[in-house]
Amino acid sequence: MGRFYITTPIYYVNDAPHVGHAYTTVNADALARWHRLRGDETRFLTGTDEHGQKVADAAAKNGVSPQEWTDRTSARFREAWDALGISYDDFIRTTEPRHYETVQKFLGAIYDNGYIYKDVYRGLYCVSCEDYYTLESSDQGRCPIHGRALTEMEEENWFFRLSAFEDRLREHYESHPDFVTPETKRNEAASFIRGGLRDISITRTSIAWGVPVPWDEGHVFYVWYDALINYMTAIGYGRDGDEVATWWPFSHHLIGKEIIRFHCVWWPAMCMAAGLEPPHHVQVHGWLLMGGQKLSKTMAAEGAVKLTDIAPVTLTSEFGVDPVRYYLLRETSLGNDGEFSHEGITHRYNTDLANNLGNLMSRVATVVATKCAGVGPAPRADSELAPLARAAIADAVEAWDSFSPQGALESTWRLLSATNAYLEEHAPWKMAPGVDVEAVLGDALEVLRLAAVLATPAMPAVCAEIWRRIGLTGSPEDATVDVAATWGLYPGGLVVEKGEPLFPRIRIDA
Ligand code: MSP
Repeated sequence: MGRFYITTPIYYVNDAPHVGHAYTTVNADALARWHRLRGDETRFLTGTDEHGQKVADAAAKNGVSPQEWTDRTSARFREAWDALGISYDDFIRTTEPRHYETVQKFLGAIYDNGYIYKDVYRGLYCVSCEDYYTLESSDQGRCPIHGRALTEMEEENWFFRLSAFEDRLREHYESHPDFVTPETKRNEAASFIRGGLRDISITRTSIAWGVPVPWDEGHVFYVWYDALINYMTAIGYGRDGDEVATWWPFSHHLIGKEIIRFHCVWWPAMCMAAGLEPPHHVQVHGWLLMGGQKLSKTMAAEGAVKLTDIAPVTLTSEFGVDPVRYYLLRETSLGNDGEFSHEGITHRYNTDLANNLGNLMSRVATVVATKCAGVGPAPRADSELAPLARAAIADAVEAWDSFSPQGALESTWRLLSATNAYLEEHAPWKMAPGVDVEAVLGDALEVLRLAAVLATPAMPAVCAEIWRRIGLTGSPEDATVDVAATWGLYPGGLVVEKGEPLFPRIRIDA
């Protein structure tokens, strides 16, 4: 048993939540649920990033104050996560007083440690990225990500001495090979550092929508500088109930690949400057693409793609909550880009859920009803499925532990396929009632129980329903995985319920 502090990026509230945001949040949720199942003391943080030019512009465009706009949009994120069954322990908003207090104390510590100084900033700025570019790093004066013309900015700003941390960051990467995963993303982050680090401007006077700089009236912190500190706010940095020592050594940031530089270069340097260790681990994931394009809000607004119009609830009302979660976790390995499509989700639903898991559940329940008077028999210790189940358990545990929901589900579904094949081979529906049919069905019931344990981080409601239908009390989340994921624990003698199909097949009109 250990501890696990997992965070998502906090989402900008310039617009509504979409499937790309759901991708990150569902992955973080599944990992948090896995660690709870592991018996780890777990804390799962998500929330909204509410300052900055982009949000202020969105509020102005909609004719409301920034605070009113962020209240409204932040609530939509919370609703989306509630609809997706996201088990966050804390939902942070960067406009909360607790965050102002932590930001001011954290940056105050960096200031006191001598890493903040005043200078004039001249440069090119992209409001969509809320980030600066040099002429060289731009695409001929345009943002390399959003394609927009960059704005010339000149301001007297406070700067963070990022350049002072080049060596220490390099050493940290060398001595912590798993600081950033997967390796390709680690190499990308390390190459930023090798390329040389310039000091960065961390305050603004041109905008008022931000956290005030405590030592210089009229300045607010640059949105990224306040945003990163949310991970400290949530564990009470500098406040009553400071739990930094408890949680920080177990921190895992799950982030999209476009924000590597902030999380893997700036943020560890900021922590060092404040006298703290860098976060324990950053797991980077790729983008969900549609027709090869990222679901970027900005690009969608410019007419390039419309996928950002897909609200998570549009999908859940069509396919159900757990199938959407399953698809997001199963389709793409965490780290690579993945293609999102309606056909893809329908295909996964029909093959993995309806034809495999759903079919196994309904076949077993039907035959238990006809051959065993509705009472589920116990499995055999020496079942031919037992070694397959042990291998699947070991692989799934290893995959969940190493941030691979896709691998964990793949291993679990391998066992389900083998069990369906086992039923085909023995055809219990053709057998006469008695010990032989009981043996086959007991083994299959045990696989259903094990699959419910291994897949519960992905599909908590469906797995709880399987648990109930095979006659077990409580839920698969009640025992730790070490105890529950062991062949042979289905006790037998329980009433099995057939119920409606778990996943009614979706008809595909040719
Ligand atoms: N507010 C910053 C993060 C600050 S964290 C201290 C931000 N917000 S965002 O709303 O633009 O994006 C947040 C995250 O949403 C991305 O890092 C990524 O994890 C996720 N995604 C947004 N679009 C996505 C896809 N198309 N595909 C996968 N993830 C996507 O950046």
